[in-house]
This record gives sequence, C-alpha cells and structure tokens, in this order.
Amino acid sequence: MARRKKVYEGKAKILYEGPEPGTLIQYFKDDATAFNAQKVEVIEGKGVLNNRLSEFFMQGLNDIGVPTHFIRRINMREQLIRQVEMIPLEVVVRNIAAGSLSKRLGIDEGTALPRPIVEFYYKDDKLGDPLVAEEHIIAFGWATQQDLDDIVALALRVNDFLSGVMIGVGIRLVDFKIEVGRIWDNDYQRIVVADEISPDSCRLWDIKTGQKLDKDVFRRDLGSLAEAYSEVARRLGVLPSVAPAVTKPTLIN
Ligand code: TMP
Repeated sequence: MARRKKVYEGKAKILYEGPEPGTLIQYFKDDATAFNAQKVEVIEGKGVLNNRLSEFFMQGLNDIGVPTHFIRRINMREQLIRQVEMIPLEVVVRNIAAGSLSKRLGIDEGTALPRPIVEFYYKDDKLGDPLVAEEHIIAFGWATQQDLDDIVALALRVNDFLSGVMIGVGIRLVDFKIEVGRIWDNDYQRIVVADEISPDSCRLWDIKTGQKLDKDVFRRDLGSLAEAYSEVARRLGVLPSVAPAVTKPTLIN
C-alpha cells in the first residue's frame, strides 16, 4: 500500500490525508493516556473499540441532524472524516458532579446537577487545558459569541442524544467532552462535532451497580479498561455478545 501523508499525531489518534480534498483518515491507536499524558499505557484493542463506538455515536448524531465530521468507517481502526477547522476548545457537558468539578467546587461525586452544565477548556497541553470563561474565548479570538451560542446548542443536543442512548442500555451519562470545528460551505460556516465520542471522553456509570465503564477505570486503576469498553460496545449492539468463533455455524450437508 502506498505510504500516506501523516497530517497530525495526537495521544490516541493519528490523522492522515484523505482520498479526496477536504477529507482525512482518522486512525485510532491503542494508547491510553491520562493526566496530560503523565500516565501512559497500551491497551490492546482499545483503538478498535473506540473506532466502532465513535462511529456508532457520530452516525447516530448525523441521522438525527446533529452535524459531525464523520463520513464512514473504513476498517477496524480507521474512519473517513471531513476536514474541519478545529476550534481550540474542549467542550464538557455535565449532568452529575464528578471529576474536576467535584474537586474544584467540593461537590460530592454522584450529586445530580440541577441542569446540565457546559464548560470550556482551552486546548493547550503545555498549560494543562485550563478552564476558561466565554470572556476569554471571545477576547482572545478563539471563537465568536455566535460560535459559542452554536457550540452550546450543539453540545446540549449531543447530551440529549447520548443520555437517551445510554439510559436505554442501563448506563448513566455522567459527563462527556466533545471537540468542535468549522466547516465552510461556500461563504456559510457551520459548527460540527469533530474528534471522537467514546468512553475515553465520557463518564459512564452502570445505573444499577454504579460500576464505572469509562476511562476512569484506567485513571483510577479500577480494573480492565478493555473489558469496560467491550461491555459498553456489547450493550449497544456494536460488538457481538458472543465471540465469533463460538457462533461459527457448522455446515450439515
Ligand atoms: P473532568 O471532570 O476531568 O474535567 O472531565 C470531564 C469530562 O471530560 C470527562 O467525561 C472526561 C472528559 N475529559 C476528556 O475527554 N479529556 C480530558 O483531557 C479531560 C481532562 C477530560
């Protein structure tokens, strides 16, 4: 196969030039990182699971008219996406207090929030992705007020969709992070969901047992990350519940 041009390499993914202008190929690695890459491990199979799960969520969003960069999955580890102009923000939506919100404001993990809270973090590894206010974003020109209004509306639609899908399989969507970008159609600009949506960027708790089924399993050393992600995939019907070898049919005559 011809060598492809690498456009960008991040902690969990690689972007290659796509087959047509305006497209990219997004490759999912097995690398897991936490705490701004202070903790790093290779989790065999994570890339395959996140590719499938991100496909499932992004395609679902496309289907209900929430725009994303996702075009189609190509193979086990790669998907075709639209090239977007990334906005340098991590957009976090929270339904239940956990993680940095609990720490910063002293609210017990697991406390239901009176309404979903949308937060912005400035994407800069050197600074450790600091929390920023709309004032900073507008003053420093990372996005306009109109962009921010669109981003909040988009993030809340993603929250409604993901919460509903998860509740259907017995999982509570505690919080999640999305990244967004701009797509230009002639002179018209649209904000779309980009990057990935997977258990790497969500908090997912089993409704009955409270078991964590997301990257906190890795951050907090709570067991097998691959097993937790497989459980999410299995419940969503993204992975067969029985290993293929077991279900292989026997031909009679
Ligand atoms: P936090 O409580 O650590 O701020 O995380 C909020 C949500 O954002 C949680 O679902 C994990 C996700 N997240 C990322 O996807 N990437 C990150 O770098 C961080 C800090 C959080």
